[in-house]
Amino acid sequence: MNAPIQLLGIAGSLRRQSYNRSALRAAAELLPEGARLEAFDLDGIPCFNEDLERTPPEKVLELRRRVRAADAIVIATPEYNYSIPGVLKNAIDWASRPYGESAWAGKPAAILGASLGPQGTVRAQYHLRQVMVYLDMFPLNKPEVLIGGASRKFDEQGRLTDEATQKLVRQLMHDLVAWTRRLAVRT
Ligand code: FNR
Repeated sequence: MNAPIQLLGIAGSLRRQSYNRSALRAAAELLPEGARLEAFDLDGIPCFNEDLERTPPEKVLELRRRVRAADAIVIATPEYNYSIPGVLKNAIDWASRPYGESAWAGKPAAILGASLGPQGTVRAQYHLRQVMVYLDMFPLNKPEVLIGGASRKFDEQGRLTDEATQKLVRQLMHDLVAWTRRLAVRT
């Protein structure tokens, strides 16, 4: 019997009605058997300061603990000016330090993103993949979940209503759990 897979979800937006928060909620509802997804809210994380990396605020310690405890990471990123938002990069930086003690190293990951524009965060996702190289993470290559035109794909309550996108998100979560189990049996 396989042990349950614990996923940590992070949305790179602080906006209350954020499409990316909504996309993460949809992912939590489209999980395969034997997996759980809990979200970590980036609200309250201060700007990174290397002077404080060994004595960070409690919220940063909590982020590091939650990342370490997770079997895999799910990141729903907006696209800001063709890249990932500063709040997301800032949180990634905090949990990557001190040098040699990164919480991200070796974590399997899945990326999705929602934007108002038609490209669905593709440029931000590729920047995030580049960051994950240095973090020594293992993001799934496919499926790419690029939710363009997000205002038409979620309802007023933030529920993902677009069936094709639901199918892709379900596939992403299925593949992430399989990928995580596959990496866990490495010797
Ligand atoms: C944006 N937006 C945006 N959209 C896009 O497709 N490509 C982009 O480069 C940008 N750039 C950008 C910069 C900044 C500073 C903001 C505030 C917005 C629009 C973006 O897709 C939209 O605001 C989303 O709703 C943001 O995601 P959340 O907050 O809904 O998750």
